[in-house]
Amino acid sequence: MTERAKEPGVGSLERRDHMLSAGVDAVLLLGRYGHQGAAGEGMELLAEAVRATGRYLTVRTAIAERGLASLPEELEVCAQAGAQKILVIPVFFGRDRSLIHWLSKAAYRWSRTRGEQGPEMVFTGAIGEHPVLGEAVVRAVAEAEGEASVGVGDFESLEDPAAWSVIPPQERHVLACMGPRCTSRGAGGLYVHLFKRLHKRGLLRGRSGVHAAQTGCLSPCNLGPTMIAYPEGVWYCGLTAEAIDRIVDEHFVGGRVVEEYAREPGRHDEQPVPEGAR
Ligand code: FES
Repeated sequence: MTERAKEPGVGSLERRDHMLSAGVDAVLLLGRYGHQGAAGEGMELLAEAVRATGRYLTVRTAIAERGLASLPEELEVCAQAGAQKILVIPVFFGRDRSLIHWLSKAAYRWSRTRGEQGPEMVFTGAIGEHPVLGEAVVRAVAEAEGEASVGVGDFESLEDPAAWSVIPPQERHVLACMGPRCTSRGAGGLYVHLFKRLHKRGLLRGRSGVHAAQTGCLSPCNLGPTMIAYPEGVWYCGLTAEAIDRIVDEHFVGGRVVEEYAREPGRHDEQPVPEGAR
């Protein structure tokens, strides 16, 4: 049943649960967390299975938070491929209606950047709610009973890497937001850019280096992408690749806060960074 339809005509967006819409020519599998490693391979396997049907112009994967590539970025790839109607399938568990509602909104905002030419988009319910998933678990249990499962044991060593017992020596710390709203504004790519810049400046190691880590939502989503730089506790907002370069060079190397991107804690910002602007 259609749950919601919003402003058709400007890249119309609607949401349907477990109902494949006729005329879909692109499928976008939307994971919740980072696509690195095995999670990325799993998503790609799912995408391959959909591609193998041969029914779609393109089949892509995107990530809601803590990774690459974001929903708006992959919607753009689908549109560039000529898609007129994109089906977005949230590949995660739980009835996180507020997250899916917000992601639908992010998709709609992206469509507005394309004006009247934007493709139509349809969101399904999350895969985790689909009844066929229960059947898959029952089948996996049956296969395990048939000894097709993998046992636990036979490790060459039970020792973990020694580095996991060492506190990183860097005196400066950066917490980079990878929440869903910052991710939709390109935080995943900016984090990679930050690491490259730190590497270029020789700041990845030693006491004078920078220890960077990803976090979930830091709260001021309207000002994203955001990050906090310690020990000063400077909030940097509205980040871009150029801003990252300046912060690394002028602040982390030169010792001067880049005021243009720094925001004062506790103050309501009258000019939030416009969503979809980056
Ligand atoms: S998602 Fe980054 S501040 Fe909320």
